[in-house]
Amino acid sequence: MKLTYYGHACFSVKVAGKDLLFDPFIRHNPLASAIDVDSIPADYILVSHGHADHLSEAVEIAKRTGATVISNYEVCEWLGKQGAPKLHHLNHGGSARLDFGRVKYVWAVHSSSLPDGSNGGNPGGFVVETGEGNFYYSGDTALTGDMKLIGETTPLRFAVFPIGDTFTMGVDDAVKAADFVRVNKVVGVHYDTFPPIAINKGEAAQKFKAAGKELVLVKIGGSVEL
Ligand code: NI
Ligand code: MN
Repeated sequence: MKLTYYGHACFSVKVAGKDLLFDPFIRHNPLASAIDVDSIPADYILVSHGHADHLSEAVEIAKRTGATVISNYEVCEWLGKQGAPKLHHLNHGGSARLDFGRVKYVWAVHSSSLPDGSNGGNPGGFVVETGEGNFYYSGDTALTGDMKLIGETTPLRFAVFPIGDTFTMGVDDAVKAADFVRVNKVVGVHYDTFPPIAINKGEAAQKFKAAGKELVLVKIGGSVEL
């Protein structure tokens, strides 16, 4: 599976010939000014929760590409009202069987108000199961024991975790989360975008290494095979 990083918590995974784009937030990210939003491909846009730093280009990209937006019920309804043409509503514990595999919406410990202050339901993450392997994107979350349930039920190739602290898990908790879901490879997101979530990348990599794990930090605009 090829993962491309677009900055903050936005990335895409190419699997079974489909482009799965997660949490688009590009035009307002000062670190992602080199990314051309108009050329990002998407067959599905997965939105973890209602915060603006996870969906600011969701409608725009959905309209251009015809991609199906997958999120919780409230976020889907809100994006639909803004013009997203195709929606797949989920709620926690529910899954969608799609042409590339299966997506399950799972719990996250965070908040989820929408940009206009309306109710964005409860925040979540996604477990994606495909014929090419499975992965878990936690969305913005604290470390939570519920992650152990994912590790117990789904063998994962890798996980994508926030590591910037302040609003989400920091590095130490992300290492523990990797243990909980039984992965050795973690793609770090949600760091360095704004001063409160700046991290020491060398130290972060070292902490994962000391736990026998690998922290993958992809350059914005870059791709990695996982
Ligand atoms: Ni958030
Ligand atoms: Mn966020």
